[in-house]
Amino acid sequence: MAPVTSFDLIFFGGTGDLALRKLLPALYYRHRDSKDTSGWRVICLSRQALDRDGYLALVREHCQTFIPAKDFSDEAWSAFAARVEYLQVDGTRAEDYGKLGEALKDSAARTRVFYLSTAASLFAQICGNLASAGLVTPASRVVLEKPLGFNLASATAINEAVGAIFSEQQIFRIDHYLGKETVQNLIALRFGNSIFEPLWHRASVRDVQITLAEQVGVGERGEYYDHYGALRDMVQNHALQLLCILAMEPPSSIDPDQMRDEKLKVLRALRRFTPETVRSHIVRGQYRAGAIEGKAVPGYLDETGIPHGSTTETFVSMRVDVDNWRWARVPFYLRTGKRMQERMSEIVINFRAVPHAILPGNDSGAVNRLVIRLQPDEGIELHVLAKVPGADMRVKPVKLDLEFAETFTTRQWDAYERLLMDVIGGNLTLFMRRDELDAAWRWVDPIHEAWATQSDAPKPYSAGTWGPTASSALIVRDGLSWKEES
Ligand code: BG6
Repeated sequence: MAPVTSFDLIFFGGTGDLALRKLLPALYYRHRDSKDTSGWRVICLSRQALDRDGYLALVREHCQTFIPAKDFSDEAWSAFAARVEYLQVDGTRAEDYGKLGEALKDSAARTRVFYLSTAASLFAQICGNLASAGLVTPASRVVLEKPLGFNLASATAINEAVGAIFSEQQIFRIDHYLGKETVQNLIALRFGNSIFEPLWHRASVRDVQITLAEQVGVGERGEYYDHYGALRDMVQNHALQLLCILAMEPPSSIDPDQMRDEKLKVLRALRRFTPETVRSHIVRGQYRAGAIEGKAVPGYLDETGIPHGSTTETFVSMRVDVDNWRWARVPFYLRTGKRMQERMSEIVINFRAVPHAILPGNDSGAVNRLVIRLQPDEGIELHVLAKVPGADMRVKPVKLDLEFAETFTTRQWDAYERLLMDVIGGNLTLFMRRDELDAAWRWVDPIHEAWATQSDAPKPYSAGTWGPTASSALIVRDGLSWKEES
């Protein structure tokens, strides 16, 4: 499909963290590397009383912070900045939309993207104001950031309100994990090769581990984070989407609805938690003071914006079962946390051990393992057993390692670069459909409901560790261990 080269991209939340840290740097790169940018227009909106020069100075400062010096040049910046406009618009005030209408007049036929990088609680109001101001054209799209809602009820209310104005084909529910190169490589690995499919089911797979570990704490986002917690911030969306791509049946094409139909089936096959299994199969934790790479860091309760005695979880690990023919009785372990020992996101697929071990070294439960590393150092490892040199027929695990950075020398696109271009090009494959989102909330809500009735607080863990010891116990109980402990 030929790229769309003429569009108006309108960011609500233009002075927010996401716009400055991710969206505008991503656009800088796309602008720098695109052939024809003469039809690009980026209109950033926020409540702040800034003029265009003041806003551009802010954007430049952030681009220079988040873009490596080798990729930033005055020439590329000036060309990009010439495409950016700023308007002081409060998305909640209908009377402010006249300014936006003025800026968009005579461009009704162009692709028009409204990117709502604001709290989800404002989505309905902003869409309503856009419609009342007559700004929603057939060529319009809206991008909704996660977490979309707080539970199924609030997500439903938002989706109903947005759906009254935009058709489902115009709604792009973004999950930036789907824009990561390695996640798309997982799709390529599974559906572009024939060697994995025969192994990709319960007869060959012993267990699956998905870890999304961060070293950062809650930083300046304390107020947001304390309201949502790790389950809503990372599991309901990113971790579940990864699980879906891993577990889905091969779609008959990468057409958006084919892909999303298959992901939806996985979400529907997830075993529901009961209050009892929430206790036995899920560990929630909260970080205490500790050290990250030798540097002391405060505990969660001492972070800015965190209420005294908060019981919000900053860590979750859980055993998940996918109740279908392919995955019956294969445990999927998900874990995510802030202030963990390493920044590391990866998917580990442990294959079953040989049925009968005849070689020394092969009798200790050593297994073949496929590791898909999302970050840092994106790549894929296949662990196999090989003979140790020498007289004995002794084997030990070695790995076949594919580092994407070494194999592909072109710069990897950031997830937002890819996803922004998909929105502009109208490709919904990597965006969540409403029924997927509903299914994810339907699965997550009972966990929060059970936690609300349980008196025990999240288990403490020291910053700089792999979470509460109960997380290790959760998996050891099944006779298994997390990758770093095996
Ligand atoms: C966001 C969460 O969706 O993902 C953040 O709101 C988290 O809390 C971030 O830090 C992690 O993204 P990445 O790409 O750095 O793994």
